[in-house]
Amino acid sequence: MPRADEIFQKRLEKHHDELRWLYMELYGNDSMFAELCDNLYRFYTERKETLKRRDQQREKQPDWFKKSDMLGMMLYIDNFAGNLKGVQKRLDYLSECNVNCVHLMPFLDTPKGRSDGGYAVSDFRKVRPDLGTMEDLAKLAELCHEKGMNLCMDFVMNHTSEEHEWARRAVAGEGEYMSRYFFYDNDRIPKEYEKTVPQVFPTTAPGNFTWLPRISHYVMTTFYLYQWDLNYANPRVFNEMMYNFLYFANQGMDVIRIDAVPYIWKTLGTSCRNLPQVHTIVRMMRMIGEIVCPAVVLLGEVVMEPEKVVPYFGTVEKPECHMLYNVTTMATTWHSVATGDTRLLRRQMDIVNRLPDEYTFLNYLRCHDDIGWGLDYATLSQWGIKEIAHKQYLNDYFTGKIASSNSCGELYNDDPVTKDARFCGTTASMCGIEQAQADRDPNALEEAIDQDLMLHAYMLTQSGIPMLYSGDEIGQLNDYTYREDPEKVSDSRYVHRGAFQWALAEKRKDKNSVQGRLFSGLQKLEKIRAKETVFSSGANVYTYDVHTDAILGILREKDGDWFLGLFNFSGMGQTAWMQEEGSFSELFTGKTMKLENPYVAPHGFYWLKRVR
Ligand code: GLC
Repeated sequence: MPRADEIFQKRLEKHHDELRWLYMELYGNDSMFAELCDNLYRFYTERKETLKRRDQQREKQPDWFKKSDMLGMMLYIDNFAGNLKGVQKRLDYLSECNVNCVHLMPFLDTPKGRSDGGYAVSDFRKVRPDLGTMEDLAKLAELCHEKGMNLCMDFVMNHTSEEHEWARRAVAGEGEYMSRYFFYDNDRIPKEYEKTVPQVFPTTAPGNFTWLPRISHYVMTTFYLYQWDLNYANPRVFNEMMYNFLYFANQGMDVIRIDAVPYIWKTLGTSCRNLPQVHTIVRMMRMIGEIVCPAVVLLGEVVMEPEKVVPYFGTVEKPECHMLYNVTTMATTWHSVATGDTRLLRRQMDIVNRLPDEYTFLNYLRCHDDIGWGLDYATLSQWGIKEIAHKQYLNDYFTGKIASSNSCGELYNDDPVTKDARFCGTTASMCGIEQAQADRDPNALEEAIDQDLMLHAYMLTQSGIPMLYSGDEIGQLNDYTYREDPEKVSDSRYVHRGAFQWALAEKRKDKNSVQGRLFSGLQKLEKIRAKETVFSSGANVYTYDVHTDAILGILREKDGDWFLGLFNFSGMGQTAWMQEEGSFSELFTGKTMKLENPYVAPHGFYWLKRVR
């Protein structure tokens, strides 16, 4: 037997029994399991030698993605560089940003105007023609790898577009294809589901079913009406989607973001979220990856409270996702910005810091989606803060309706029933840069830049992988042109999905410009983070109480190094009530200071390392 086969066999043997057990539990179908295994081998043999080498290296170094120099950036291919070839040409810019993990927003073929930003895939084997070809994608992966970068893509597995071949064949009446979705010829079962299933887009896409008059059937559509939920109880759906996953692994992807994963299993009478079968599927996916393409890691998208997110890591013996979004921390961060009070953030960070080291979070200030106010309301209510009124306050704050706020942005899915609006806007606009520039107010502008930098410094202090949002490194503002585009106007998330402003990016070289200050500030922070041992995974991390609610303290200790980050979330100067012996080097400014009740400027921060 050739050596390559031995490698595959060894990996398969390691996981075979568990994989088979789970598959049989879910599907009880031997021949489909045999087909799956045959295809695992096929994808393995089709995998390029260079990728196989990457697999072997990473098997030896499974923590490769936890290194403190890991820095992600998410971007839309067309906004950033026109098409995939354009991105290939812009890799130097990304290197200059210290980025080594590029998350490409959805780029697969999708119907124009009915695409949900690419999250309605009509062909999993075809790149959207205006963005390029599959060859361009594989080439980009190759170029990234040569530069020491990783490539990440979305795997939209909960649904397909209504124009996907399966959907079309289902509409044409082919029963086998209908069984890949959820079809009902009357509203009896849809109505039953509606009793227990919450809504994702209550105003832009109410309900969880769509009536198709042409074929007189309802189809399940949890998200937009043109995104048809796949039926994972059908093993054909599972197998084919795994082949799609492996196909992308073989194009050279390093990180696969599994989109909307909590939703993939549906059972009547439940919320159809986070059901046990979802975890069975993710666990199988993890093993399939480890058998065929162990260089690839899974990033789960679970936009929910911590109790629901953490199970997606699986257990240490039976892991599921390699990484998950630190979503509650993100939302709580903006709550702290609006209130100038970091108590809730501290509690949230304490929860995250207590989790096992194996759990890797992806930290971010914002992403392509709206910010939902998923906060710990049980704790807030003990402090006299009520959920609905508080959400109203946050939305008023970020739309600049509160006197102390300079923030600009738009509401999203403003639900008149639950009053549960979410929020959209770029980091810079949320921090007040847009308003300060419009008002030509230099003091307000200073404050806004400081706040923006402080938030990035705080984000980079967290354990896990920081993920920047393209444009934030130069303080890009909201883009209101989506309002003139009939295909986008109803979805305010486009306000922070504007085209990257290369002309503004040029100004990054001018250290006095807004762009230059943010860009060079971030660059400096990222370089410090990459270099200093205290930022490595495995550091002990705690919050540090400085007896001032406006200031968040984060302590990191590793191999005798002691680091304290102090972040002032309020617009007023504050004293951190604390004493620590010795001298401290402020890593950002290079100054040395004592820690005796230090003063922290409005929206200021310190990155302090004890001088040994
Ligand atoms: C994820 C994406 C979001 C999309 C949804 C439906 O939550 O982040 O943008 O609308 O999935 O695919």
